[in-house]
Amino acid sequence: MLADRPVSFSGVQPSGNLTIGNYLGAIKNFPEFSEKYKCFYCVVDEHAITVRQIPAELRRRTYETLALYIACGLDPEKNTLYVQSHVPAHAELAWILNCFTMFGELSRMTQFKDKSAKHADNINAGLFTYPSLMAADILLYQTDVVPIGSDQKQHVELTRDIAERFNQIFPDTFTVPEPIIPQSGARIMSLAEPEKKMSKSDENENAVVRILDDKDTMIRKFRRAVTDSGNEIRRGEDKPGINNLITIYSCFTGKTAEEVEREFDGVGYGEFKTAVGNACAEKIMPVQEEYRRLLADKGYLEEVMKKGADEAAYYARKTLSKVRRKIGFVNL
Ligand code: TRP
Repeated sequence: MLADRPVSFSGVQPSGNLTIGNYLGAIKNFPEFSEKYKCFYCVVDEHAITVRQIPAELRRRTYETLALYIACGLDPEKNTLYVQSHVPAHAELAWILNCFTMFGELSRMTQFKDKSAKHADNINAGLFTYPSLMAADILLYQTDVVPIGSDQKQHVELTRDIAERFNQIFPDTFTVPEPIIPQSGARIMSLAEPEKKMSKSDENENAVVRILDDKDTMIRKFRRAVTDSGNEIRRGEDKPGINNLITIYSCFTGKTAEEVEREFDGVGYGEFKTAVGNACAEKIMPVQEEYRRLLADKGYLEEVMKKGADEAAYYARKTLSKVRRKIGFVNL
């Protein structure tokens, strides 16, 4: 163990399009998580360039992502928040791990298959070795747990295989990490197809409510949410739409589902949807305000990046120097 607590590592893509699903899933966990774990949150700009980026936009989104996470309640004093390319050990370990990762393993990754179908004109080597960079992110910090969405589970499993393979040749090098996939409690579903999880990359903008949507947009999206036949605000197995809206309302207000059902007894779908929209806006508008305040203060954000990178580099250096020694590089 590198720290006094088990380590949690999270990689965050630099995009400002987080949804209220991310918010409700994440914010609830942040304070509790940083008590239980030593937490690293890394904005993965090196992963981002595996698909073509507009440089000015990538830079802007790196600041935005950091600001948004802080605005959502992530305390930079209690967590290590930093940018991947500021800690060169990530790229260095990724190269080493590439030599312990099999072509066949990388070929089986479903994200690689999906992304190479989507970007057929740019199937670059970085896209292919994306998972060994991700393994480097995780293994550098002797990570115990990796909170992820289910789409990243295959990558964490590969990380475990790489760690185990390396440890077999060079015993006691890496901690083998466990994925943590947040359970249904705050699983927020799409507003258009409530059988599906709300996804930040959904092409239907009406399916997702984004943390940065303005108030009117938010309320409009809730008013258009797909609901089920019926007219009562009550949960039911065949009512994914209403179930989802009840969950969202209950997450934003702190009321239990039973309390929500009682509150809206005799009320129609339309009125309920507006209430959900208002409850959401009431919680999210202050987050947006804080986000804008932070974004206007680049100096502060850069201080956070700098402090985070120094802290991360301190831990990363220990692992990297151990790895270098084990594989036979000369350490000066
Ligand atoms: N691949 C992750 C995603 O697309 C981001 C990521 C990069 C990550 N490195 C990581 C997640 C390490 C967890 C741990 O969402």
